[in-house]
Amino acid sequence: MASGAPLDVQRIRADFPILSRQVNGHTLTYLDNAATSQKPTQVIQSLVDYYERYNSNVHRGVHTLSIEATEAYEDARGKVQRFINAPSPESIIWTRNTSESLNLVAYTWAEANVGAGDEIVTTAMEHHSDIVPWQQLAYRKGATLKIIRETETGRLDMEQAAEFITERTKIVAATHMSNVLGTVNDVKALADAVHRVGGVMLVDGAQSVPHMPVDVQALDCDFMAFSAHKMLGPTGIGVLYGKPEILEVMPPWMFGGDMILEVTFEDASWNDLPYRFEAGTPNIADAIATGAAVDYLAELGMDRVWAHEQQITAYALDKFKDLNGITLLGPREVEDKGAVISFSHDSVHSHDLGTALDQLGIAIRTGHHCAMPLVRSHGIISAARASFYIYNTEAEVDILVDGLNEAEEYFSKAGIL
Ligand SMILES: Cc1ncc(COP(=O)(O)O)c(C=O)c1O
Repeated sequence: MASGAPLDVQRIRADFPILSRQVNGHTLTYLDNAATSQKPTQVIQSLVDYYERYNSNVHRGVHTLSIEATEAYEDARGKVQRFINAPSPESIIWTRNTSESLNLVAYTWAEANVGAGDEIVTTAMEHHSDIVPWQQLAYRKGATLKIIRETETGRLDMEQAAEFITERTKIVAATHMSNVLGTVNDVKALADAVHRVGGVMLVDGAQSVPHMPVDVQALDCDFMAFSAHKMLGPTGIGVLYGKPEILEVMPPWMFGGDMILEVTFEDASWNDLPYRFEAGTPNIADAIATGAAVDYLAELGMDRVWAHEQQITAYALDKFKDLNGITLLGPREVEDKGAVISFSHDSVHSHDLGTALDQLGIAIRTGHHCAMPLVRSHGIISAARASFYIYNTEAEVDILVDGLNEAEEYFSKAGIL
């Protein structure tokens, strides 16, 4: 069980085979965790175990392998439920990723509940997957989309949120933590505001669930979406949490095997929750491995994960102060900020910076981060981003800072600066 002690990062690193890999003659410095995290042996091994020992379809077999696979698959759902303190396993729906979870809400709950003249409120900090589904819904329905702006210090303008959330608001869709700015938003305050006018709150937890303690009941959100691959789990599997009383009356989205109760040639009736929203053979192996990822994080303790990331982010923010030509996006201090640091350079394009760092074995993300409106609102079209996780160290921040200094020197000598 986790104590309040700092994470034993060297011990954690030993669980991640990829971290000892060489890239361009250097030991990998992996700082692209907001895009996807690396996977510990325990997660990789759970995939191997499934395929080697009990690969079988779930919910439909009477043989031993199918029973074992069903138990492991449902067990993983229970682990996710406890991890985010959801009220029941039925409130956890397996999807492919955050994007599919968000689209599921847009195509089911919102399709049934948003009409002409209604309003959808979202924020200037959203990933494309929490903007485009709402734009499309607004076009289909004749509804209006309102975007809460970012303040000068990189936070959400909560005064504007209070103005925007009115009797016409049917849904507020907001990110818990920005994948570009690192800002942690007060989604509980947004949930309270939209509940006062009878609407629902959807939280994009893609960047929060992997990094901090998240309690969906304490946040009182109606929906929460996140992806396993950003929290030590495999790609191709995500989660939509929904309040059971909302899911119970929400129409299904995809139709087919497993989601039905009874079918005639004329009609069909729907299975119980959560299977009603899981048509077809699910991603069994990856769901089970998500359970292994959740076990790993729960064993560390999410309070300690958050504390570690706060420490490393504070260290990095301090080091960045000495760098030339760099402008940071988002909050400059760790208050309300997770382990994401995005920045642009006065004269060097972020792709050039990223390529120069790659030569030193340092992996960062460059570009618009699937948040084009946000990045452009900062007067740039591309930014570099370093993002940290449980296995990153202050020594790796130093490697990044040295790498940025080296890149600056190189571009300066090349006459680019
Ligand atoms: C805040 C946020 N929302 C949504 C997504 C989309 O996640 P996925 O690509 O796993 O669907 C991401 C991915 O970077 C993200 O950071």
